[in-house]
Amino acid sequence: MNGAAPPALPAKDFLSILDLSAGELTNLMELAAKLKADRRLGEQAPTAHALGGAHVAMLFEKPSLRTRSTFEIAIRELGGHPLHLPPEFASGAREPIEDMARNLERWVRALVIRTFAHEKAKSIAAAARTLHVINALSDAEHPCQAIADVLTLRERWGECRGRTLAYVGDGNNVATSLVQAVPQFGVSVRLASPPGYALPPHIVEEAARLAHHGASIRAFTDAREAVAGVDAVYTDVWTSMGQEREADVRRHTFRPYQVNGALMAAAAPHALFMHCLPAHRGEEVTADVFESSASIVFDQAENRLHTQKALLLMLLGAP
Ligand code: CP
Ligand code: NVA
Repeated sequence: MNGAAPPALPAKDFLSILDLSAGELTNLMELAAKLKADRRLGEQAPTAHALGGAHVAMLFEKPSLRTRSTFEIAIRELGGHPLHLPPEFASGAREPIEDMARNLERWVRALVIRTFAHEKAKSIAAAARTLHVINALSDAEHPCQAIADVLTLRERWGECRGRTLAYVGDGNNVATSLVQAVPQFGVSVRLASPPGYALPPHIVEEAARLAHHGASIRAFTDAREAVAGVDAVYTDVWTSMGQEREADVRRHTFRPYQVNGALMAAAAPHALFMHCLPAHRGEEVTADVFESSASIVFDQAENRLHTQKALLLMLLGAP
């Protein structure tokens, strides 16, 4: 790393967007943009050996294309080595997860974990004093997605303050991290969910307290009302991993929240379409919106790599 790198984060872990301050999030965005530009340098990039051969463990209890691939590539491109652990190790059946953490910290610098219960990631992080634990999605939060989304919006909009984004659909892990992140950059959020599926009020209230530059967060039940005039429309699957038994009920309940041409027409004419992926065409989004010029879903996916590289560098610091 050269001397222009931002200082290492005071936080040991990244389990939540709330683990970073607004200033640290901004530093992360600036570093991610630089890493994105430097990627063409390959082995000559100033950060090509920044992890100094350190190992980073990866433990995924749920399927993943984007998060798993981008972390593995990020670790390798920063001169580290990924260590893949079998998913059953997260169950605690063979040995307590806290013991697993205390073993891992003797060998590896960090653990990237995708799990069901958010508490499990917290317990692992609390058990190991030096192991950096990164939340690669839990039932409660998906902070690595949100940092990529912020970078994507900054690329499109430059200055983000004063913009408005509508999140339409389930008040889930992706919605939680999104609402915790974008208002810190001055982006107002309008949330539209069916009754019973909205983000819990304490999440919205805490996120609103962290908002900057006059950004606000408002909850709606009517999708059209939420989307009126906004600069971006974001959605996610109606049934998240682990909720498969509820899929039929959810398909019915969320039908009025589909992001289709009519809903996008209610947004500003320049409005962007966003989705964390994977997407289910014909459910939460129609194929025409997904494939339209408004859609920036693959930019979001690409930026997973650059923002996670920045996160690794800032969290792990110097080797
Ligand atoms: N958006 C996202 O996290 O994708 P994966 O589930 O494929 O990692
Ligand atoms: N809410 C989705 C996001 C997948 C990236 C899930 O948890 O399955």
